[in-house]
Amino acid sequence: MDEIAELESQVKQRDVPKHVGIIMDGNGRWAESRGLNRLEGHREGSNSVREVTRSARRMGLKALTLYAFSSQNWSRPPEEVAGLMELLREYLTKERDEIMQNGIRLNAIGELEKLPKYVKEPLDALRAESANNQGLVLTLALSYGGREELVHGVQALAEKVARGELKPADITEESVTKAVWTHDLPAVDLVIRTSGEQRLSNFLLWQTAYSEFVFSPIAWPDFRAREFAEALLHFQTRERRFGLTGAQLRRAGT
Ligand code: FPP
Repeated sequence: MDEIAELESQVKQRDVPKHVGIIMDGNGRWAESRGLNRLEGHREGSNSVREVTRSARRMGLKALTLYAFSSQNWSRPPEEVAGLMELLREYLTKERDEIMQNGIRLNAIGELEKLPKYVKEPLDALRAESANNQGLVLTLALSYGGREELVHGVQALAEKVARGELKPADITEESVTKAVWTHDLPAVDLVIRTSGEQRLSNFLLWQTAYSEFVFSPIAWPDFRAREFAEALLHFQTRERRFGLTGAQLRRAGT
């Protein structure tokens, strides 16, 4: 067995996280440190997207959510924004067959109406085509911000209240969970951020209340199947207590 297969098999022997979110950071620095254009970093980063998605499927994750473009990224130089949009379009075209052949459901969260038509159309088409696939749910967070998501959710709940369909006192954690864009995904067990930064940067604010975090010093273009499996092995050494004591959890057998 090769080294990556060995690492992935070790992960599978323990509790595999159901849902992993990744803040794919460091593409720009990876490129600049090699004297390349920042877009070359994003391009190499899309190869990491392919490799990590394959690895997630092999290890049996239910959901993988990738922070591909934040609400704040629209303020980057126009040529970088255009290059990223072009890469996304290319990704949606090139990965179509692999997504369909492997039963992956492609999902997207964010203010998707802000995406240019040449990204939105192939995105909507592949989401529709893969909607009944039963394997890994691959969610791209695009034009996504956690605060923006909460504002949308709160507005939707307020509209229900205004229509008399919901009482303010009946708004619970569960109703907020249903009002955010990830309503059909399992809770986020683990967030990985690459490239040494240790911040959430407006990613899945509501969903990460009980998530574990693994911060890797490796830049995203160099973060491949091996680094992903290693991050999951690291996660599996953690004891998740959800506010209880370790003794309580052991008694409950969780
Ligand atoms: C952060 O690196 C990364 C992004 C803003 C974009 C992520 C996009 C990709 C990995 C490629 C396209 C995505 C898909 C799904 C095909 P940075 O530019 O902030 O890096 P820096 O902090 O080193 O400048």
